[in-house]
Amino acid sequence: MQKPKGTYDIFGDKADKMIYLRKVVNALMDKYNAKYFETPIFESSDLFHRGVGETTDIVSKETYDFKDRGDRNLTLRPEGTAGIVRSFIENKLYADSMPLKAWYFGPMFRYERPQAGRFRQFYQFGFEAFGTYDASMDAEAISILVNLLRMLGLKGVKVNINSLGDSESRKRYRDALISYFRPYLHELCDDCKARFEKNPLRILDCKIDCDKEFMKNAPKMTDYLNDDSRRHFDEVKEYLKAMDIDYVLNPNIVRGLDYYTHTVFEVEADIPGFGSQNVLGAGGRYNNLVENIGGPSVPGVGFAIGLERLLLALEMENIDICNTSYPEIYVVPMGIDAKVKVASLVNTLRLSGFNVEMDYDNRNLKSNFKVADRLKVKYIIIVGDEEINSRILTIKDNNSKEEYKVKLDDLIEFFDKKLGDDDEN
Ligand code: HAM
Repeated sequence: MQKPKGTYDIFGDKADKMIYLRKVVNALMDKYNAKYFETPIFESSDLFHRGVGETTDIVSKETYDFKDRGDRNLTLRPEGTAGIVRSFIENKLYADSMPLKAWYFGPMFRYERPQAGRFRQFYQFGFEAFGTYDASMDAEAISILVNLLRMLGLKGVKVNINSLGDSESRKRYRDALISYFRPYLHELCDDCKARFEKNPLRILDCKIDCDKEFMKNAPKMTDYLNDDSRRHFDEVKEYLKAMDIDYVLNPNIVRGLDYYTHTVFEVEADIPGFGSQNVLGAGGRYNNLVENIGGPSVPGVGFAIGLERLLLALEMENIDICNTSYPEIYVVPMGIDAKVKVASLVNTLRLSGFNVEMDYDNRNLKSNFKVADRLKVKYIIIVGDEEINSRILTIKDNNSKEEYKVKLDDLIEFFDKKLGDDDEN
């Protein structure tokens, strides 16, 4: 049996890295007063049609749709925003004090052609803030993404921003695009010919047509922003400058999901040889999504970052985030009677907060020392009849090879001192 195409198993090094990233994200989110959410991995298909948009590639070509045994149409979530918005509405969280900041971490599913940095099951860390129209929250969302990458030490990062304005601005822009592209219609790829009527904005980020000569002079969204939209975007830029976040104004950022209004952004890996799937994380404001999904008129803004691409970027910059945790203490029983005592001792040590492993298989001393080295343990305790009778243990420091005689009753205190000190160093 083999794993399905475009998926991968998480174990070993990768598992350690994922756990580490989750810890970093968890601590970071506490700093922003954001609350953790977990929503189902499958939702009603209709949610994504209404949320992400019928004309998007994600919904029209990439969803994993299925019927359950009750004949319901369900879809494996291709992204996290729609599910969080559904939960926000269904649990009437809009009745709480706003803004509400939510974060999530989990697998998403898209039937895309697998390649480096692109999978069919991939992991996202996402953030969504509801309940404020203020530009400071757009900037905060961007800053979280940038700060995460900074904290991890990633250098090659480029922040692209654009504004899609409000509905009025976007309608004017859409009309301008249709007039502009009409004479070039026969030169557009088949997908863009369909996009021309349904969603001409999407022509701007077409991978096939992007290098064609006529694309260079296409109208720019920012020239069609009305006063309110322009003011909002100017404020976002001001906040970003104040937070020392360098950005590039990129009029071709239109995003592959339909729910955006005003600010949109993509944070790109700027690392030689990274490959074409170089958008690490992306997001934007969505002032109409909550209402479109059936809730009250509540604005939102957020982003999601792909963890596979993030790990790839860290690897390419030789940043090792792996913090494998090793057992601190290894306990070796000598004989069957000792083993029962050791199992109880190990249990007590673990409950006292230490990371402990024991020999389960009655190995001889020589192979136990080898195991201890392989596990990179700090202390070894060998427990035989003598130790049990005298209630005095010999503890060996596996690095310095120094030995300590410690009373059984003083063991926790001993390790509190030794390993507590180690943690501080
Ligand atoms: P997205 O741009 O579709 O936005 O995805 C965000 C990130 O998920 C991408 O930048 C990329 O790192 C990762 N990603 C997407 N597809 C794949 C894939 N097939 N394989 C590996 N990684 C992938 C969203 O999903 C929006 N929900 C973001 C958002 C949140 N906007 C507002 N709030």
